[in-house]
Amino acid sequence: MKGIVLAGGNGTRLQPLTLVGSKQLAPVYDKPMVYYPLSVLMLAGIDEVLLITRPAEIELFRRLFGCGGRLGMRIDYAGQEEPRGIADAFRIGADHIAGEDCALVLGDNLFHGAELPAVLRKSARELRGCVLFGQQVAEPQRFGVAEVDSKGRLLSIEEKPERPRSHLAIPGLYFFDGTVTDIARALRPSARGELEITDVLRAYLAQGRADLVRLGAGVTWLDVGTHESLLDAGRFVRDVQRRQGTHPGCVEEVALRMGFISADACYALGAEMGDSPYGQYVMERARAHRPAPAPAVFPEE
Ligand code: G1P
Repeated sequence: MKGIVLAGGNGTRLQPLTLVGSKQLAPVYDKPMVYYPLSVLMLAGIDEVLLITRPAEIELFRRLFGCGGRLGMRIDYAGQEEPRGIADAFRIGADHIAGEDCALVLGDNLFHGAELPAVLRKSARELRGCVLFGQQVAEPQRFGVAEVDSKGRLLSIEEKPERPRSHLAIPGLYFFDGTVTDIARALRPSARGELEITDVLRAYLAQGRADLVRLGAGVTWLDVGTHESLLDAGRFVRDVQRRQGTHPGCVEEVALRMGFISADACYALGAEMGDSPYGQYVMERARAHRPAPAPAVFPEE
């Protein structure tokens, strides 16, 4: 399965923070925002990722991840000249997807929770068109909103409706089969001039091939669009790290856990940042992952 991280947009609501840099590189506590969505794709088992960003910022992302080899991945980059909507990612990424299944994650969405890896694996495995997620929120009108019947079957999908039919918001993480590029190609811009992700989801729904997976209390979802939510996300990550000792969005640890890299390679990546608590954590994870040395056996005298 292929992955796409969409890290475009002008981040106008985060100015002046975003005047000379990408929103998705802004710090969320101890790491750049993009680490979090990238780690989600990795947890789904994806090791081939296209990162879409403003052309001027490709170099910055490349400095962070290179070609992905250090994480045992392949990471390519593509520019989005204008923010033409989320579904534009499937046009830009058509060659990358190349008819395979793919997952799209928005570069400003964070997910964390013990249930997450199993949910991701199951969604990828049982994909029969598209999988979108749903989580109960207080202000659904700020998001894509799904309506489901009593059996959890999808009935409707709307983008930021004034009068939402439910409190089920659709997070910025989606799985699609390879036909998504054809569906995106046939889209027309919405009234606000964007190629809407909800129109892609609706096309699958019309074909009877859209499944909604609810994210329960075991998964935290945060989307970062304002100064407030950026601070909230940072505090959340700090609290999880402090209290639970686990580090959301630690791409080196996920690469190790998914078998993309060896414990030695992981240790070396941590050691490069060894002055920081983050680097120390990566080294510690690598050490814990190494098989215990075999007990010395002495020949009998
Ligand atoms: C986008 C999508 C929306 C989704 C949200 C999740 O909105 O259009 O359907 O619920 O991401 O973060 P945006 O936040 O880009 O306005």
